[in-house]
Amino acid sequence: MTKALNLDIKKNEDYIINIDNYGHEGEGVGKIDNFTVFVKGAIKGEQVKVKLIKVNKNYGVGKLLEVIKPASCRTEAVCSIYKRCGGCNLQHLTYEEQLNFKTQRVQDVMSRIGKLEDAEILRTLGMENPYNYRNKVQLPVGMNGEEIVVGFYAPRSHDIIDMKTCFIQSKLGDKVVELLKDWMRKYKIKAYDEKTHSGTVRHVMIREGFKTKDVMVVIVTNGNKLPNVNALVDELKAEIPNLKSVIQNINKDKTNVILGLESIILWGQDTIADYIGEFKFNISPLSFFQVNPVQTEVLYSKALEYAELTGDEVVFDAYCGTGTISLFLSKAAKKVYGIEIIPQAINNANESKRNNGVSNVEFIVGKSEEEIPKLIKSGINPDVIMLDPPRKGCEESLLHAIAAVEPRRIVYVSCDPATLARDLRILEDLGYKAQEIQPVDMFPQGHHVECVAKMVRK
Ligand SMILES: C[S@@+](CC[C@H](N)C(=O)[O-])C[C@H]1O[C@@H](n2cnc3c(N)ncnc32)[C@H](O)[C@@H]1O
Repeated sequence: MTKALNLDIKKNEDYIINIDNYGHEGEGVGKIDNFTVFVKGAIKGEQVKVKLIKVNKNYGVGKLLEVIKPASCRTEAVCSIYKRCGGCNLQHLTYEEQLNFKTQRVQDVMSRIGKLEDAEILRTLGMENPYNYRNKVQLPVGMNGEEIVVGFYAPRSHDIIDMKTCFIQSKLGDKVVELLKDWMRKYKIKAYDEKTHSGTVRHVMIREGFKTKDVMVVIVTNGNKLPNVNALVDELKAEIPNLKSVIQNINKDKTNVILGLESIILWGQDTIADYIGEFKFNISPLSFFQVNPVQTEVLYSKALEYAELTGDEVVFDAYCGTGTISLFLSKAAKKVYGIEIIPQAINNANESKRNNGVSNVEFIVGKSEEEIPKLIKSGINPDVIMLDPPRKGCEESLLHAIAAVEPRRIVYVSCDPATLARDLRILEDLGYKAQEIQPVDMFPQGHHVECVAKMVRK
């Protein structure tokens, strides 16, 4: 039997706990004496009964057995498989409380990690309709005995939870999944088994243009052969309105990476189109494109507002991906330089630049921490810098290089509040002040929160 250090707290015993906070994934946090316990599914303000299933030196994990005193913000999850599926984790909170949790999380890390006591943290901007917002879904395909299953993985596992409908993705996805399952059953097409690396269909991906309504279906397979696929294409053409593209993507590797590098067009075009603001983008199976189109405009508009462009500025857009922010800013700036590590993304960015008739943007392939110092060395001085790095945040050397040339403003877009807080602290110590931070809910029903921060020179 495991016991918490110096306390008479035992694994597999039941306890009653008052939940007084949230953990970073929205789980409830309470205490038994002074021992911290995390409880998935419990809400701040509740009294709950839990079974302690993990007891570590500094904290424990409780399994929720009963909500003794429910919080007024507890609500019934709309999805029947919510408790088993790993796709969402906040559906038991009213949407109002989801936004409260996200705002509080950002406030907490900004104070704890960033020591940014003066920055104004605004309330999280939420969606009018926080369901069916995703423009992309990728679902694993597998077998449960003789049954084909398509859904999301259960939390922390690769067991596929079969689903008939998903409340955060486009409703079209449900129909595509149904047609795919019927076709696999009819033609005895095997789902991929990752343990034996055998079988054919690994994943299905559906992308949909929010404004254009264009639809792309991608079938990811373990090899080149896909027998009787024309029957599936015919069904999709008949049943899916605005279908523009059906693609087979081949991924023969033993890997968790979903897409392989080779794609074959089974029917239609190789890309679909969508808009952000007035700019049109072509999206291929592998392109990075924000998954919540409604909130992307909210996020980018805030970034544009924080940049305070008058038309005379030189802007560096570091980590520019397919150039969406660069183009979005281009009308308000004199010149924008977009820097991105993935050559394919820069090809897409240049294509979008041409298609949209933009002439004041230049895209550069390479690491921001290497290319930005080169630009500066060549005599190009930025007035405003936009940063939108991956979750791990920016290289510290990049933050030093940009602070040294004293741009008037730095606008930092981030999908991880903790690394954002770390980097804002570094910039504060280099002469900048975090003035305002706006959390934006790009992922309703899930715990992730995006932020945009405005920094000005002190
Ligand atoms: C969060 S995405 C942002 C993309 C884009 N700004 C957008 O809104 O669609 C981060 C991007 O940084 C790129 N990246 C990662 N490390 C990089 C580096 N060291 N230098 C430049 N780009 C990098 C990734 O390939 C990815 O496209």
